[in-house]
Amino acid sequence: MSLAAIRKAKPAAAVVLGSGLGAVAEALGIEAQVGYGEVPGLPVSRVPGHAGKFVLVRVGGRPVLIAQGRSHLYEGLPAREVTAGIRFLAETGVKRLVLTNAAGTLNAGAAPGGFMLLSDHINLTGATPLLGGPHFHDMSEVYSARLRGVFHAAAVRLGITMHEGVYAAMLGPQYETPAEIRMLRTLGADAVGMSTVPEAIEARALGMEVAGLSILTNWAAGIQTHALSHAEVVDTGRAVIGDLTRLLQSALGEIVTGDADASV
Ligand code: HPA
Repeated sequence: MSLAAIRKAKPAAAVVLGSGLGAVAEALGIEAQVGYGEVPGLPVSRVPGHAGKFVLVRVGGRPVLIAQGRSHLYEGLPAREVTAGIRFLAETGVKRLVLTNAAGTLNAGAAPGGFMLLSDHINLTGATPLLGGPHFHDMSEVYSARLRGVFHAAAVRLGITMHEGVYAAMLGPQYETPAEIRMLRTLGADAVGMSTVPEAIEARALGMEVAGLSILTNWAAGIQTHALSHAEVVDTGRAVIGDLTRLLQSALGEIVTGDADASV
């Protein structure tokens, strides 16, 4: 499928899938796809075979674009490059964006394997895609209360427990030390990860309505007794793909067709 055809589909909403969560797109039924390499301005992945792609699916009969694979600051890219895909989504007319990620949990009441809607974030990456200009955008409600309500309602319908809390974004790529996690707890964080925040800032600056959803894949460093590994993060992510797919399908169904559509 060509880039022009994706633009023509005029997707109402988009989802960015975190690492290891790509199977969600397949489960939703792929209608068409275009590799990131075919989109001008998108950074080309340094990892062969992991370039990523935009996948067009249909939810409730309406087109939804899924970004499968994302760039991270820890790859050494400037924040503005990390968020090139968000600017592409805005260009295609996307007004509502769901950012998913894998995160460590700091909250004793929210165990690994669970889901957490972002109520807010703390940007500790030292980076922002808005650097370089007087872009004094308001960030007092990065993650839409209205979309949080839609996701909470979907979780209730599906019998899935949904937490809500503050996401702390770290540069990475190394995981945190136990002392850093104690610091993050003091600062009021509930979860920690290495993505989402640059994208959320860019999307808000472009006027999109944003939801953030963490898949809590592990206890943060020092809370669990064993060493943290990428394999553990990916395995937990895979284990909840089914629930994540159902959540997205149900919430997106509301977002693209329901009353939620009327206000933007
Ligand atoms: N820390 C940072 N990023 C992460 C973690 C974590 O514990 N788990 C998944 N992504």
